[in-house]
Amino acid sequence: MGPWRVLTAIVLCSARSLAQTPTKPQYSAIPTLNASIDAAPSLIPNILDPTAPNAQDVCPGYKATNVTNTIHGFTANLLLAGKPCNVYGNDVAELSLVVEYQSQKRLSVKVFPKYLAPANSSQYIIPAFITGLPDVDEGTTLLGNELNLTWSNEPSFQFEISRGSERIFSTVGTVIVFEDQFLELVTSMIPEYNVYGLAEHIGNFRLGNNLTRTFYAADDGNPIDSNVYGTHPMYLETRYKMGSDSLSHGVYARNAHAQEWLLRENSITYRTIGGSFDLYFLSGPTPKKVIAQYQGGIVGLPAMQMYWVLGFHQCRWGYQNWTVMQEVVDGYANAGIQLETLWNDIDYMDQYRDFTNGELNFPVPAGQAFLEKLRAAGQHYVPIVDSNIYAPDPGNASDAYDTFSRGATQRVFIQNPDESFYYGDNWPGFSVWPDFLNPVTQDFWTNELIAWYRDIPYDGIWIDLSEASSFCVGSCGTENLATNPAHPPFLLPGDPGMIDYTYPESFNITNVTEAASAISASASQASSVSATATTSSTPPASTFTRTVPTPGVRQLDFPPYVINNFFEGHALVKNSIAPNATHSDAYNTTEYEMHNLFGHLISNATYHALLQVFPNRRPFTVGRSQFAGSGNFTAHWGGDNYSKWGSMYFSISQALQFAVAGIPMFGVDTCGFAGNTDYELCSRWMQLSAFFPFYRNHNVIASIAQEAYVWSSVADATRTVMQIRFSLLPYFYTLFYQAHFLGETVMRAVAWEFPNDPQLAGVDNQFMLGSCLLITPVLVPQAETVKTVFPGLAEKTTWYDWYTLKTVDAEAGVNTTIEAPLGHIPIFIKGGSILPLQQPGNTTKTSRQNPFNILIALDSGGSASGSLYLDDGESLVQEESKYIEVKSESA
Ligand code: NOJ
Repeated sequence: MGPWRVLTAIVLCSARSLAQTPTKPQYSAIPTLNASIDAAPSLIPNILDPTAPNAQDVCPGYKATNVTNTIHGFTANLLLAGKPCNVYGNDVAELSLVVEYQSQKRLSVKVFPKYLAPANSSQYIIPAFITGLPDVDEGTTLLGNELNLTWSNEPSFQFEISRGSERIFSTVGTVIVFEDQFLELVTSMIPEYNVYGLAEHIGNFRLGNNLTRTFYAADDGNPIDSNVYGTHPMYLETRYKMGSDSLSHGVYARNAHAQEWLLRENSITYRTIGGSFDLYFLSGPTPKKVIAQYQGGIVGLPAMQMYWVLGFHQCRWGYQNWTVMQEVVDGYANAGIQLETLWNDIDYMDQYRDFTNGELNFPVPAGQAFLEKLRAAGQHYVPIVDSNIYAPDPGNASDAYDTFSRGATQRVFIQNPDESFYYGDNWPGFSVWPDFLNPVTQDFWTNELIAWYRDIPYDGIWIDLSEASSFCVGSCGTENLATNPAHPPFLLPGDPGMIDYTYPESFNITNVTEAASAISASASQASSVSATATTSSTPPASTFTRTVPTPGVRQLDFPPYVINNFFEGHALVKNSIAPNATHSDAYNTTEYEMHNLFGHLISNATYHALLQVFPNRRPFTVGRSQFAGSGNFTAHWGGDNYSKWGSMYFSISQALQFAVAGIPMFGVDTCGFAGNTDYELCSRWMQLSAFFPFYRNHNVIASIAQEAYVWSSVADATRTVMQIRFSLLPYFYTLFYQAHFLGETVMRAVAWEFPNDPQLAGVDNQFMLGSCLLITPVLVPQAETVKTVFPGLAEKTTWYDWYTLKTVDAEAGVNTTIEAPLGHIPIFIKGGSILPLQQPGNTTKTSRQNPFNILIALDSGGSASGSLYLDDGESLVQEESKYIEVKSESA
């Protein structure tokens, strides 16, 4: 086969064998695959290609005919209004339009090919079993709709959606483009618009108007403003009004294909490489109502989490054996810091094979003893499960892997177009991926999780690499399984030649001595490894701009429209399962349609598997890639961020994006994943993340340890904040209940709580937890103070300092400087709040047995209110629960 078969080196005892004192490494000899297995032609993304035709200039648009009123709206045919432009695909001549007033607050506009051709499934419309497909709400009539659609045929079909006199979406002056591999729709926007959402991206909370949001799930490390793990094609827009209430609305485009949203000065252009226009407009009119309408009416309400999930989680890539795991548990206990859950990364596996334990370092019997002790202390255990399944060498019986054999017999893996298995590459070497469109796959997945649970009784599952990530281009393992096990075609942290000694931005100032020794260690390592580095760099690949649309041909791997995929060369085949990989459903749906849904499907399958493992217990699963609606069944973490102040700052916008997207159980790798952290950053971050719903410290292999007890200053800061978080658990849990039942948010933008103050439109360095608490973290190094805005002062909102309970003395609309030395995170209580509190124990379990307190913070009129939800903390169906509303009114 190709040049990638060249095995360039044998690396002994690599980063894959991390035992501290193993007599035999878990992985003894590791051939390194040549980097060329991940080489793909280099493409020019359309948005960066000055020669790329603008579909708006060359396409004819459509004319509506046969307009027919229906009970809930109208239907029409859309006929191509001129010569096909075939700009990035083949124009579809005849379309159907369906306009439906689905509720008083939700309007749906669907445009899809009149004649669906199953053979050309670029027109794939996501079935309802995958994610919410809303219908007309019961009792909806055409009267009293808050939204209104008008349309015209001059010069071609165009439509506008208004709420009263406010035009919220308008394609006027543009054409609709509908081709087999390219769709485009443009809406005009008001100047300086305030748009939020379009998760998942790393960047500011308020999206700019010179920005492209690309959606194509990618296993990349938190690049700013590029595509990353998740796809939530939904935005919230807020328009401020002088002298009256602001108006917010939402737009959701239900389509999972690779796509781009071009946010420009006066317009937003929406482009996808397939599917249909399946648009939903939500009338708000407040941000909180838009989010509730999106969750409650379209994608579904977020899963109710178990109480213990709100405790603190410790993880790292590089815990070498059960003894080290026990040391971490002891480290937290000795430091007097609450540890609720200990996690395992891929280190526990036997040669990176899912559902196995390395015999040497993570043997099952010792694991069972460890877990028994953990459980007796009221603590929990969550291991990682990767999305890929190792494909062993068929010619080597000792390489057999039962999970693969069972799946292969049932043919539950994603295939090549010729029905052979698609073999990509990941940690274990050549791998296959479960095909969740095959109806048998759920049982396969459930059985694997049940069988492994019998050995290792875990409490939840962490799903990784679900983009789905593959370290080579195409089915690179076909005919090459005999070369397994393989080391990926790049160096891992900790491998000889891989230097990762980055530290936070201000490290050399705050940690002078440590910085000096790290720099000299790095320099000596650099000189000693230059001769031992084993991988070659990716060989140069050919460059081309785009493929040419050809009638009757779908170009799956290299579609004519090139998205700005983050990876070098931008090709869709890079670092993930190739788009032509095929599912074994009735339509032989391909990854071209399913790529952005893999993470959603595997998390859903894991949720359902856990329902079998723990009947009537709320499943806990945390997934990396997700899609609109994933919040129904999974939590999410922000993936591979950095031990940098910048990553900590962006974590707030990330969480707020996921509040819009309906995944409130969100958190990031606290203290940073990649690179080394330091005490100052880690101290600030441990305090900040304590107010995120999902609170987990995690870092990469080979970087320095960053458990909260490692530095005394971090331990102090963590002890302080952990007492606060634990006392707030009843409040947190009540917020989750309200999110789960009503579509409310847990972590909130200040702008959502004070929607009429335009100065707050872009605030992403402060946030609210529910409606009662304002958090103002320090996000820069070497600070002793922080500036904070106290919203609502002009309307007589009162704020109290959490620590002193004194009323804050500040001026409206002015940044107030407050003291925030290391170890102190400013928290303020909004007047009018009643907070249910409980005295902290050392785990959530013991906390729940402690006495309650009630904190009443009166508003300027002397009143306050609050609520408390109580249940058993884990059952799906509760035998008993209580929801209490409390009020305090001035006499
Ligand atoms: C990528 C994940 O994002 C990261 O959290 C994990 O540590 C590594 N994979 C190794 O499993």
